[in-house]
Amino acid sequence: MRILITGGAGFIGSHTAELLLAQGLDVTIYDDLSTGKRANVPAGATLVQGDVRDFSALAIAMRGCDAVLHLAAVVSVPMSIQRPHFAHEVNATGTLNALEAARYLGIDRVVIASSAAVYGASKQLPLAEALPPEPLSPYAAQKWLAEAYAATYAALHGMSPICLRYFNVYGPRQDPASPYSGVLSRFIGAALAREQSTLHGDGRQTRDFIYVGDVARANVRALLAPDPAPGLVFNVGTGRAVSVAEAYALIARLTGAPPAGRAPARAGDVPHSRADVGRARTLLGFAPCTSFEAGLEATLAWAQQRLVPTLPMSA
Ligand code: NAD
Ligand code: UD1
Repeated sequence: MRILITGGAGFIGSHTAELLLAQGLDVTIYDDLSTGKRANVPAGATLVQGDVRDFSALAIAMRGCDAVLHLAAVVSVPMSIQRPHFAHEVNATGTLNALEAARYLGIDRVVIASSAAVYGASKQLPLAEALPPEPLSPYAAQKWLAEAYAATYAALHGMSPICLRYFNVYGPRQDPASPYSGVLSRFIGAALAREQSTLHGDGRQTRDFIYVGDVARANVRALLAPDPAPGLVFNVGTGRAVSVAEAYALIARLTGAPPAGRAPARAGDVPHSRADVGRARTLLGFAPCTSFEAGLEATLAWAQQRLVPTLPMSA
């Protein structure tokens, strides 16, 4: 069985590719390497360099595949506000391209990366899939549209796409250097570089942080599961909320980092986020197994390892 992963040279995609290869599946990665890295592509996977906005190239790469994991996206909420048309083309049109190429080639299962950002301003915690979306950013609106396309392709063409609303994913290979990267990798990167981190807003905003290894397992489940219900959306979170200030305090305790600086709250920022994890557990048989503390320590160990200079061969 061969799986095509768009965005497979990125953070979540590379972990998922490793897991699929370990289970004996074949993996093709389709990625433009804009935020992803060639070094993330695991041995045994085939890399096709291309853009999800290029329908023909995507369809050619997809030929011969049995299922698709569609991850390629402009991932940053602030970037989607700065460049909404560009983000729309990648996030919304790119998803339409993935679905349409799969339909054309007779590929039934397309697993689509959506986001907890779709819940936006919703205050009804824990956030359950049945709540109406309340997007606060172009990114959230684009992910909601991606879900709508998936439901449309299920109804119109009898395909069985699955949308996964990841909550805040963290772990090894999330780029600490990019200003658009996830908050935990930013905090860890700054702490190890002895630079000051910045807390946006009062730091009391909460997130449901989920470890990347758990998200990779959810992806594999969704790719291989019998059809749970066409076009259905699933939360992929832990059910636990941690405030941004609490997360910083834990990282500071583990690294000795000084107190963080302050900056105004970000435009389009979601105030609180915590997943209702019932649907994924019941219909996909998925439950996360990494605690926040264990996941953070593993991420920190990876980041510290990256700082160790490579010794010359003769040393
Ligand atoms: P990432 O930036 O590491 O991965 C995205 C990958 O897509 C990169 O390898 C990048 O090079 C590739 N890409 C970007 N634009 C492309 C294009 N036009 N054509 C082809 N490839 C392109 O980010 P990630 O955290 O691994 O995110 C993967 C998916 O999960 C995204 O759809 C993102 O919106 C979603 N998601 C992530 C999180 C999170 O907390 N990291 C949470 C919710 C949803
Ligand atoms: C993140 C993901 C997004 C995903 C969403 C799901 C990234 C870059 N973004 O968005 O793709 O769909 O989760 O819930 O992975 N913050 C600081 N200081 C910093 C950086 C951030 O205080 O240096 C704060 C932000 O203001 C925000 C929180 O930390 O309140 C989380 O920010 P961030 O990691 O960028 O993620 P989200 O915007 O939640």
